[in-house]
Amino acid sequence: MNEDTFLSCLPELLLPWYEGNHRDLPWRKDREPYHIWLSEIMLQQTRVEAVKGYYARFLTVLPTIQDLAQCEDDTLHKLWEGLGYYSRVRNLKKAAQVIVNDYDGVFPRDHAQVLALPGIGAYTAGAVCSIAFNAPTPAVDGNVLRLLSRLRNDASPIDLPETKKEVTQVLSRIYPERAGDFTQALMELGATLCGPNRKPECEQCPCRAICRGYTAGTAESLPVKAPKKQRRQEELTVFILSCDGCYALEKRPNKGLLAGLWQFPNVPGTLEPQQALCQLESQGLHPKEILRQIHRTHIFTHIQWNMQGYYLEVREKSPDFQWFSPQEIRTQAALPTAFRQFFKEIENV
Ligand code: ADE
Repeated sequence: MNEDTFLSCLPELLLPWYEGNHRDLPWRKDREPYHIWLSEIMLQQTRVEAVKGYYARFLTVLPTIQDLAQCEDDTLHKLWEGLGYYSRVRNLKKAAQVIVNDYDGVFPRDHAQVLALPGIGAYTAGAVCSIAFNAPTPAVDGNVLRLLSRLRNDASPIDLPETKKEVTQVLSRIYPERAGDFTQALMELGATLCGPNRKPECEQCPCRAICRGYTAGTAESLPVKAPKKQRRQEELTVFILSCDGCYALEKRPNKGLLAGLWQFPNVPGTLEPQQALCQLESQGLHPKEILRQIHRTHIFTHIQWNMQGYYLEVREKSPDFQWFSPQEIRTQAALPTAFRQFFKEIENV
């Protein structure tokens, strides 16, 4: 049996199951391309439960693509604060500007035009075109790769681009008329019964009868992943400087990791307490004693930060920094999670 014949009954098995079993999620209430696009960008690398609140808030502040295109970067960063991977939101705005300038503010329907927008790759283009416009364009993410690797009893490593390409081709041959529902049904099964980091619930699965992984008894050991590279370790000394109830923050450079976001002042390397005080003196600051030492780590995709934090008071507000009240840090400054954990520790929030 070739692949197409074997999988051709997938839509008829999956669609009725999806109808009766899908989760009621905010981005499934309509098929507005802006909403689908935003949700798919937010859902990359981020859990559904975490996205719900961000999604609602974002659309309350920026209900249209025009609003997004004109939004100030600081407002945008604040709306994204805590979600991570901030280049996603910068690309959202760039794409919104392209849509306003080149397409009169109307989200393009053509797959190639969608794929050409900033921040939109094969997965997102496939998801938006199928869900919003019912085009037969697969959206292959980790959930769908896991599902297909089990259905096909295929041990190709799912993190290789060629595996993703091949799965996309196989799926595009079996897309039914209800393309949007099929895309979501694949995602839903891959996120729930056939979900990550646990035993697949094969007894409940609508596809059990055709699943080669189930038949062969290999479903649980699939998918296969290529060995991960070690993350680069970076050491950082972070200064949480307070003066008159305010904290010193500075903006990160406009390029690179966490570009344009706020941070507590910091220097590379791990300084001992005495060295940390000397460092501050050499910057013209006049620290009082160290109130607390706080060690934290933060994991990015390719880098891990190991941070030694020093919380101390200084005698005056150096103009080298901007000084924020705790309330302003909560409501105005986009302080990424790597740094916010120090603020949370000190403010007990
Ligand atoms: N993960 C990625 N896209 C999703 C979606 N549209 N619904 C639920 N989970 C998802």
